[in-house]
Amino acid sequence: MPADLGTIELTFCGHATFQIKTPGGKHVVVDPFFEQNPACPLALKQPKNVDALFITHGHGDHISDAVPLASKHDATCVAIVETAGWLASKGVKKTVGMNKGGNTEVAGVRVTMTNAVHSGGIQEGDRFVYGGEPAGLVLTFENGVKIYHAGDTCVFSDMQIIGKLYKPDVALLPIGDFYTMGPLEAALAIELLGVKTVVPMHYATWPVLTGTPAKLRELTGGIAGLEIVEMKPGDTVTGPMRRLASVP
Ligand code: NI
Ligand code: MN
Repeated sequence: MPADLGTIELTFCGHATFQIKTPGGKHVVVDPFFEQNPACPLALKQPKNVDALFITHGHGDHISDAVPLASKHDATCVAIVETAGWLASKGVKKTVGMNKGGNTEVAGVRVTMTNAVHSGGIQEGDRFVYGGEPAGLVLTFENGVKIYHAGDTCVFSDMQIIGKLYKPDVALLPIGDFYTMGPLEAALAIELLGVKTVVPMHYATWPVLTGTPAKLRELTGGIAGLEIVEMKPGDTVTGPMRRLASVP
C-alpha cells in the first residue's frame, strides 16, 4: 500500500512543480515553474489560490514564476537566505530566508530545509547571480504526513540522515538524469532514504532528461514494499495516493 496522504491533495504540475492543498485548506506550491514549463497543462498555468511558495533553489525551472505569483497572491516565499533576499530585491513582500537544518512554519506547514547536492545560481539576462546553495524540503502537514521534495540533486550518502531524522512518508525524487539523478542514482537514493512511496519528477520535460519511471521500477524491483507512484502532469492524488482529478 502506498502512503496515505489523508486529506492532502497533491497535484503534479509537471517537471518539479507541485501544488498542494493542505489539510487546513491552504494552497502551497513547491518550485513555481508554470508559464514556461513545457510539461505544465494549460489549465494549471495560473493557480487560483496560493498562500505560500516553497523554493528549493534559484534555477529558472524552479523559480521563474515566484515573483509574479507571490505578488499576485500576496504569498509568502520560503527559500534559502540568498535566494529569499533576491526575491525580496525583486519586490516580493513576504519572504522567509532560512537555511539547511532549520525549520519554519508557514501556512500551517512545517518546512524543514535539507541538503541537496547541485548548484544554485539565479539567471539574470546573460549572467548568474549567487542564489545560495540548493536545498531539499521536508514538508510536515497538520495531519502528520511528511512529503520530501528532494529539489535537484545527485544521490548523496546523507540521504540516510534525512530518512533517519524525518522519516518521510512520500519522496518526490528527480529521475531525469543530466541535471540531476537518473534512475540508477535514484534507486540508491530510495534505499538510503528508506522511503516506501516515491513519485518520480524532473524527467521528460526536455529530450535531455531521459530517465523514466519504468527504468526506476526495473532498478528497484528488489526493494520490499516500495510503491512508485507515477503521476502525469495534471494529476491530483489524495488519501492512499488515489487519483482525485486529472487535467489534460
Ligand atoms: Ni537546478
Ligand atoms: Mn531543475
